[in-house]
Amino acid sequence: MKKVYTVAIIGCGSRGREAYGKIFHQYPEWSIVSLCDISQEQLLRASQEFKVAKENCFLSEEEFFQEKRADVLVIATQDRDHVRMCIKALKLGYDILLEKPISDKKEELNELLKTYKQSGRKVAVCHVLRYAPAYAKIDEIIKGGTLGKITSIEAVEQVCYWHFSHSYVRGNWRNSKESSPVIMAKCCHDMDYLQHFVGARCKSVYSTGGLDYFNKQNQPEGASERCQTCKYIDSCPYSAENLYIKRWKKENCLVDCWPFNVVCRDVPNTETKLRKAYEEGPYGRCVFACDNDVCDNQQVLMEFENGVKASFSLTGFSSRMGRKIAVYGSNGYVDYDGTRDVLKYSVYGKEDIYYNTDELVKDLGVDTFGHGGGDEMMIRALHEGLSTGKMETTLEESIESHLMALAAEESRLTGKVVKIHQEDE
Ligand SMILES: NC(=O)c1ccc[n+]([C@@H]2O[C@H](COP(=O)([O-])OP(=O)(O)OC[C@H]3O[C@@H](n4cnc5c(N)ncnc54)[C@H](O)[C@@H]3O)[C@@H](O)[C@H]2O)c1
Repeated sequence: MKKVYTVAIIGCGSRGREAYGKIFHQYPEWSIVSLCDISQEQLLRASQEFKVAKENCFLSEEEFFQEKRADVLVIATQDRDHVRMCIKALKLGYDILLEKPISDKKEELNELLKTYKQSGRKVAVCHVLRYAPAYAKIDEIIKGGTLGKITSIEAVEQVCYWHFSHSYVRGNWRNSKESSPVIMAKCCHDMDYLQHFVGARCKSVYSTGGLDYFNKQNQPEGASERCQTCKYIDSCPYSAENLYIKRWKKENCLVDCWPFNVVCRDVPNTETKLRKAYEEGPYGRCVFACDNDVCDNQQVLMEFENGVKASFSLTGFSSRMGRKIAVYGSNGYVDYDGTRDVLKYSVYGKEDIYYNTDELVKDLGVDTFGHGGGDEMMIRALHEGLSTGKMETTLEESIESHLMALAAEESRLTGKVVKIHQEDE
């Protein structure tokens, strides 16, 4: 019989309620006992779904943090809240599941690390890809040694056109001053699995990239500032009508499904509610006339302390969403295409082995497919880590991935190679 841990969640939105809350609620080894959200609507929905008593639900962060309310706290609020809340939680003695990114400020990362070390508690950052069965398989192959000496890794992240415009042009992560640069917000995951696969810290980084398309210069002539009054409403692939009404219909009119439930928080979603929400809210803005400043493409070259080199490329322009990774070794290589759920493993001179990564997820009995099964596998690993005292990854390692992203952004802005651990040299 597994030990039961009680869970509190602060930030009951897409991640807190829809992704993690649902998983915690599904398994008997977890019990959600307290919730906090500044939105009455979000709080009510989560409390009803997870059956949390009214007296344990809080609309104010201050009230919520007056005492420790569970064994584990899930922090799933927006990027700028993470360090502040995590420090409060550590001081109260919580073990914590902390959403990424931790912070895009070095001083905050250091401050958190200091409090964490003093607290003796556990902090698992939601680098969900680490736990996804496809990535775990790549890691197992690399660590198994059959690839020989790993010389380089090539990684690509294709954030498909509708996801990119939803989140990084119109949505929560469009502006680096409000959240963080895209290389941090979206790609700290990639930095994390790269350093994990390589098995060493990153030494230096060079990066290019820019906001090359979603800007005023590319707005078609005569386009309106809002989709509902725009003459391109039918022809523009990014129009809100195409993304949030036609796509929703194509997706079988799912009533509580991301990203539609972000456009219209009032679930169950209907066509009328969704259209009203985009016409009145931020998701009906012209993609060429938003207050976005994050890159729509970025390229990063990395060298690690053990000599392995890696390249990474992010693009907001593709029809399918997913990552592609090739690991090149002296005796074999791995080629993973996350847009098609195929992983190819070759040892030179032998038959290629193919894995369907969807099958890998099913084989593990994972019910939810968020991040290729990574969301659910991370919660399983959290239980294991809390029970055994040995976590899959540490806060120090998660911070390393953030230092890589910060270095990439610095390099992109300065045009120079950035050394990450200069103080050690
Ligand atoms: N691990 C991943 O792969 C992954 C994926 C997407 C997003 N994220 C991260 O997860 C975090 C949450 O993203 P989301 O998409 O769930 O956002 P969201 O807006 O859907 O949810 C955030 C919730 O926090 C609430 N909130 C805001 N301020 C609060 C406060 N002071 N106290 C209590 N509640 C507060 C909001 O009302 C909202 O319900 C972000 O930091 C994001 O970068 C991680």
